[in-house]
Amino acid sequence: MYGIIGGSGVCDPEMLDDARAREVTTPYGGVSVYTGIIGSKDVAFLPRHGQGHSVPPHRVNYRANIWALKSLGVTRVIGTSAVGSLRKDVPPGTYVVLSNFLDFTSGRPSTFFEGTGSTSGDDAVVHIDVTEPYCPQLRGILLRSGEALGLGMADSGVYVCTPGPRFETSAEIRMFAQLGGDVVGMTNVPEVVLAREAEICYASVAMVTNYAAGISSDKLTHAEVLDIMGQNIASIKELILHTVPAIPETRSCPCPTLLMGAKG
Ligand code: HPA
Repeated sequence: MYGIIGGSGVCDPEMLDDARAREVTTPYGGVSVYTGIIGSKDVAFLPRHGQGHSVPPHRVNYRANIWALKSLGVTRVIGTSAVGSLRKDVPPGTYVVLSNFLDFTSGRPSTFFEGTGSTSGDDAVVHIDVTEPYCPQLRGILLRSGEALGLGMADSGVYVCTPGPRFETSAEIRMFAQLGGDVVGMTNVPEVVLAREAEICYASVAMVTNYAAGISSDKLTHAEVLDIMGQNIASIKELILHTVPAIPETRSCPCPTLLMGAKG
């Protein structure tokens, strides 16, 4: 089964045929997902912010979400998200296939392996490799699909993850740009890290909804982000509908065996 995690503005399971709402129980809490079909593939759709965008980035139950997908048998996940651009040459409307991240969050539960055995029942100490955090095979398929559809794609991008829920200051954005960031958002970490711990292939397409704070003189509002996402929802849906059937059954990437050698 494949998984789609829908970010801001992508809450509706309309891309699935025969969508059915399901509640999945995990050691971290319950998760609402939809299961259905895209092409001939079984797909689970999980709206990251809940129905009606009711869960802010710092309160998303990332562990429960990835655990739920894993327990449904999901082996590949495509995430969508809205991002601000740190670069004038990456304008709003660009779809960035993320290639790396800088993590500025703190305090988010970001591992299944606490070393206590109390929740997951796994006592192991694990240091997962994140040299190349996003699945190279899935990234390639996403990129080729977007290009075939004529979407404005960027083939790589460093995602700066901020804690939210506030937007950034213009000084922070200047710093992030100097550190090598390309786009900024609030949700990709720890989502991608947990997917790796679960040995799930994970790729993310980030839609640029705005220039980040201070890059343009426009005032930043959440309403604007949702509005731009709303205007682009048809393209995002098309990208997913085109990408999922193109994913081959065989995983030709390091993701299926990431825990090998990671456990202490
Ligand atoms: N900053 C953080 N998160 C975002 C932004 C932004 O500018 N735009 C969309 N999500």
